[in-house]
Amino acid sequence: MIFESHAHYDDKQFDADRKELLSAVKAAGIGRIINVGSDFAACRQTVDLIQEYDFIYGAVGIHPSEIEDLNQEVYEWLKETASNSKIVAIGEIGLDYYWEKDARMQSRQKECFARQMELAREVSLPVIIHSRDAAEDTLKLMKEIHAEEIPGVIHCFSYSPELAKEYVQMGYYIGIGGVVTFKNARKLKETVRRIPLERILLETDCPYLSPEPNRGKRNSSLNLPYVVREIAALRGITEQEAADASWENALRLFSKVK
Ligand code: NI
Repeated sequence: MIFESHAHYDDKQFDADRKELLSAVKAAGIGRIINVGSDFAACRQTVDLIQEYDFIYGAVGIHPSEIEDLNQEVYEWLKETASNSKIVAIGEIGLDYYWEKDARMQSRQKECFARQMELAREVSLPVIIHSRDAAEDTLKLMKEIHAEEIPGVIHCFSYSPELAKEYVQMGYYIGIGGVVTFKNARKLKETVRRIPLERILLETDCPYLSPEPNRGKRNSSLNLPYVVREIAALRGITEQEAADASWENALRLFSKVK
């Protein structure tokens, strides 16, 4: 079975066919899914999804591009919701300087990231980290707050193999999705070859980032076998071995998942 470690089935792109799609996903052998919150509305929808579908678990957290949502009330809600037996991580949280160029807002992102990392520490949950165009600040902040004490994954990893190794040394997992199938994803392919197999998680980030041969279309967990195939080819292992390893890795990290 395949463990989908990062999906956004709350997204309105799934409104027309969510139920049908999710039963097809389950039938296709996607045994577990983590639906990841981005803004407050998505976090609340995540709680609905985990109630409705036995094989879906959730993460709650506020994405760096949505931090205007993170007021005291929402912070309290996150803390309370973290005790739900099917909420298995805090995320996605982090830094995104691709969409935010303003230095004052970037520093606000850092505050919100650090605060939610501390929340994860407090509630003893792993983190799902989003970091885009912010390699240096992400690592610096994580070192400052001793992130090696908080388990987690760097989702949709987009930096160098050297940086991936640094995160692995801090105890982190590396989330690999559709981008690895792109012809020009040289760095990411090299990363998959060089990090330990025990640290790779499978993810889609759907509805975004469809792998080849469906690049540009709406993504779903049904496309994960293309990612598995690429990882297996890069590592010289079977697709079954790649799927099994990432399944075990996800269960190790997200220890509340049954
Ligand atoms: Ni995401």
